Amino acid sequence: MNLPRPEPMIDPFGRAVSYLRVSVTDRCDFRCAYCMSENMTFLPKADLLTLEELDRLCSAFVRRGVRKLRITGGEPLVRRDIMTLFRGLSRHLEAGTLDELTVTTNGSQLAKYATELAACGVKRINVSLDTLDAEKFRTITRWGALDKVLAGIDAAQAAGLKVKLNIVALKDFNEDEFIPMIHWAHGRGMDVTFIEVMPLGEVEGQRVDQYLPLTRVRASLMDTFTLDESTYQTGGPARYVTARETGGKIGFITPLTHNFCESCNRVRLTCTGTLFMCLGQEDAVDLRKPLRSSESDEALMAAIDRAIAKKPKGHDFVIDRTTRQPAVSRHMSMTGG
Ligand code: 5AD
Ligand code: SF4
Repeated sequence: MNLPRPEPMIDPFGRAVSYLRVSVTDRCDFRCAYCMSENMTFLPKADLLTLEELDRLCSAFVRRGVRKLRITGGEPLVRRDIMTLFRGLSRHLEAGTLDELTVTTNGSQLAKYATELAACGVKRINVSLDTLDAEKFRTITRWGALDKVLAGIDAAQAAGLKVKLNIVALKDFNEDEFIPMIHWAHGRGMDVTFIEVMPLGEVEGQRVDQYLPLTRVRASLMDTFTLDESTYQTGGPARYVTARETGGKIGFITPLTHNFCESCNRVRLTCTGTLFMCLGQEDAVDLRKPLRSSESDEALMAAIDRAIAKKPKGHDFVIDRTTRQPAVSRHMSMTGG
């Protein structure tokens, strides 16, 4: 049954908001050095939206014309019974009201869930993987084990999921691995995307010591690969090139060296029901209250409309020696990666 396609929500800058990212938990089984501090305080479980509430919220956005949902965290697959949410949301794929249901994961639970994700209509997933060296993997994730993630990627590919790797470019850490990682990934039919480290939340080190501009990465890749500009777009902020030698794609997400806000099509929901209209701004709208205030969705829909009307033009991230404070105080794991 195909329902009539709802009009997309349009923000004050004329951008259609067709993409919702939903953080289902702020918790994670890793402690990546650029993402979290070693002793994070997490939200009390009672503050979290229930899976039923998350479904209701996502469905409200679908009714407002959102065509793509990405489930994130923290690590989304550590949330208890998370497959209940995927199973529920898959009904929108079946109804044709949603184009895509995806997930961003650290891969640690994929061996367990890959088959079920595929059965729920998930077609593509993003796996965060910054190094292929087991010891370095342990260093950067503090708690993670590389072999488990690699087994997860195997399981995902075996289940027919298209895997894309997210690699955070870290100065003096994984620079030397980019070329072998690209060969490895493209050899297995996986595209890769490099991400500049963003100033989100306090961590132990200084991000200026981790920051590696992707302009430099791209220039150095050109010694090895012939990079053809690609028109490929996933609706995200990544700019893609194709490596002629492998035929695979390489994306660059450059929030710092290049501001991509003009084509931003997304908003982000936290696991407590706060909607952030921009990853790099503090402004937010609480949707939990209207959600819980009534069984009808009227107040909720009105709150969503008010939020979209407030979507800011863009972020203003800087990382330099004089700016010691993160641009925003919340971690990526709260707003959703
Ligand atoms: N800057 C850049 N990327 C980050 N991630 C988490 N925190 C940061 C940060 N401060 C990445 C993760 C994952 C994606 C969701 O976001 O590594 O690939
Ligand atoms: Fe967890 Fe992802 Fe943050 Fe690493 S980057 S600590 S895997 S949420």
